[in-house]
Amino acid sequence: MNPHSDSRPGHGHGPGHGHHSADIDWDVMAAHLENGGELQLPVLHRTADRLGELLGPGAEVRRILDIGSGPGVMTCVLAEAFAGAETVAVDGAPVLLERTSARAERLGLGGRVTVRHAELPGVPVVEDWPAMLRRAGLTGVGGFTYLLDLPAPLGGTARTFLHAQLTRLRENASDLLTADDLGTLDVLLDPEAEQGILHRPDAFLLSATTVFTGVRAADDERRAR
Ligand SMILES: C[S@@+](CC[C@H](N)C(=O)[O-])C[C@H]1O[C@@H](n2cnc3c(N)ncnc32)[C@H](O)[C@@H]1O
Repeated sequence: MNPHSDSRPGHGHGPGHGHHSADIDWDVMAAHLENGGELQLPVLHRTADRLGELLGPGAEVRRILDIGSGPGVMTCVLAEAFAGAETVAVDGAPVLLERTSARAERLGLGGRVTVRHAELPGVPVVEDWPAMLRRAGLTGVGGFTYLLDLPAPLGGTARTFLHAQLTRLRENASDLLTADDLGTLDVLLDPEAEQGILHRPDAFLLSATTVFTGVRAADDERRAR
């Protein structure tokens, strides 16, 4: 499964991967990622249900690898949905793996969720996920999209998430934005401003998450081809 969402926290780079890593406060980043993941929980549960449907009734899921697992929100959703599976969260950021273990313990999943620290080789930005999955030998490649639609007025958690998201945009894209756009961002980020994202009554959150799926044939089926 490869989820891609257009309003999730930036495609974060753990310590050691990415040239911005030295600038990242990992405790702040971890809290932001977990907050974002929790906002997405309805989408994550629907995604896990859909994966179960795609696997079909009676499918036995023995092991789940969540690669680039971040704070482990989806890891725990998968562990809950596939109760017979051992679930392994893999990430390059130890602080996020600690969050994952703590989350799994809190949810009573500690015995079935393990974490593995690994710095995987970087991959180029993928333009065409289905083509990449097919090239990797997967069959039955497909995809589906779920929306997270939180209408105005937003609650505090969503506002905090958006504030952190816009703060990262302000930090990372300031070279690309015009003075007007930067001025608008500054108003949105001002915790005192009525028009700021923390207070304005019209703020809403609409985000699309697309999941690409594929199946790898069992070893004996592949040998028979
Ligand atoms: C945007 S976060 C997504 C987290 C989680 N999967 C989610 O959907 O909320 C991407 C995660 O991948 C990890 N990551 C990115 N590149 C990596 C690499 N080369 N090796 C290991 N982990 C990596 C980052 O540390 C980060 O936790």
